[in-house]
Amino acid sequence: MLAYSYMLEIPYWINVHKVLVKYKKIIFKLFTFSYFLGGSIIAFGFYLFNNYPLIYLIIQSLAKSFGTLALFMFLATLTPGILSRFKIFPLFASSIVLFRRQLGILMFITAMVHSFYLITIPGIMTSQFGPDFLTIRDLLGSLSLIILLPAWLTSNNYSQKKFGKIWKIIQRVTYISLVMIFIHVAFTSLKLGVLTFGVFLLEFSSWLKVWFFDKK
Ligand code: HEM
Repeated sequence: MLAYSYMLEIPYWINVHKVLVKYKKIIFKLFTFSYFLGGSIIAFGFYLFNNYPLIYLIIQSLAKSFGTLALFMFLATLTPGILSRFKIFPLFASSIVLFRRQLGILMFITAMVHSFYLITIPGIMTSQFGPDFLTIRDLLGSLSLIILLPAWLTSNNYSQKKFGKIWKIIQRVTYISLVMIFIHVAFTSLKLGVLTFGVFLLEFSSWLKVWFFDKK
């Protein structure tokens, strides 16, 4: 009884979880479709910039929201780890784990669309791209993408098997990018900055709990 109350769970989440498990394959396909869509939006950006500036501007006006979407997906990928270290909401955590890898991959692509439309494509197409063109905010955003790149490239079963124990370390490097993303986001949005900092504190305190309070 004590163990059960310690675990906590969102009321009726079991029903949501069952639906997610039932439609897992379809949801996976939707993710795959989104990867291609995101990739095409990036690739066509250069063409649109020159030939269809209006379409480019429409997508660019959404690019800020793409950043917010990428941020939410990134924070969602961290949630199961935090919840399992605090030993709460296990079913909710396992619902996210079902799609964590897909979320991580889509997060990276979404962040690329965000950065390419806001900065990279206009920079390259107007030949202004260079160190002076980027602000500290942009540099931190770029650095977080660079740090996330190895985790993104190795988010598949083949790499997981091939890299063995190192694979977990590669994935955990993501924590460093959390700090960069926090500063990057805080430059533009107080609310999102506070949210990111809150998740950072939860992440940090969940590890403190494991290191100092959990019995070995
Ligand atoms: C992991 C990667 C990234 C994430 C999660 C992210 C997320 C965000 C978020 C949430 C915002 C605030 C949006 C708002 O105020 O509504 C933002 C703003 C911005 N980001 Fe990123 N970003 C990332 C990478 C980048 C990169 C690589 C660049 C460009 C080099 C970039 C350029 C910008 C710019 C220019 C803004 C300000 C937009 C404006 O105020 O109009 N971001 N980003």
